[in-house]
Amino acid sequence: MDIKQAILTRRNIKQFKPDPVPMERVEEWLTWASYAPNHRMAEPWEVYVIGPETRAQVKHKTNFGGAPLLLAVASTPAKTAIDRDEHVEAVACFIQNFMLAAHAEGVGTGWSSLGVSPRVRELLALPEGQEIVGFLPVGYPLEVPAVKPRTPIQQKLHQLP
Ligand SMILES: Cc1cc2nc3c(=O)[nH]c(=O)nc-3n(C[C@H](O)[C@H](O)[C@H](O)COP(=O)(O)O)c2cc1C
Repeated sequence: MDIKQAILTRRNIKQFKPDPVPMERVEEWLTWASYAPNHRMAEPWEVYVIGPETRAQVKHKTNFGGAPLLLAVASTPAKTAIDRDEHVEAVACFIQNFMLAAHAEGVGTGWSSLGVSPRVRELLALPEGQEIVGFLPVGYPLEVPAVKPRTPIQQKLHQLP
């Protein structure tokens, strides 16, 4: 799959088959993800593999669509508000890379912002200053939602003198 096809056909998957995804592949996609842009080579991502006990306590309404694997990706602590934003931005790039890499090999991913909830934060016992940027269910898609059309980019293009 070329990059254009990967970008255009990736969808936010909400229903998964139970078949496991080989962890070696996941680690490889995470490695590729780590080539994301990041200021001063901060590499501000930490990846948590959520085990069954923790996952049950999260009490997600669909149990993440039955995904066989659940990751949470956090950004590392920062000293200033600017650094904090840059860390989160870099982690978002990391997540996008991961999603595209998985999708290119037929594996679906979702993105849930559930990690912002204080209850979930506490449950994960994150080190001080780490923030969850996304919970990512990972697995073979049971259902692929239709593409949501995007606004023509010309409407977002602003010519400055
Ligand atoms: C920061 C962020 C948070 C998101 N949180 C959620 C979420 O909590 N629940 C959800 O269903 N989708 C969430 N999404 C996924 C979007 O709903 C999804 O990407 C959007 O509907 C476009 O669909 P597509 O990714 O299939 O093109 C999130 C996406 C981002 C970037």
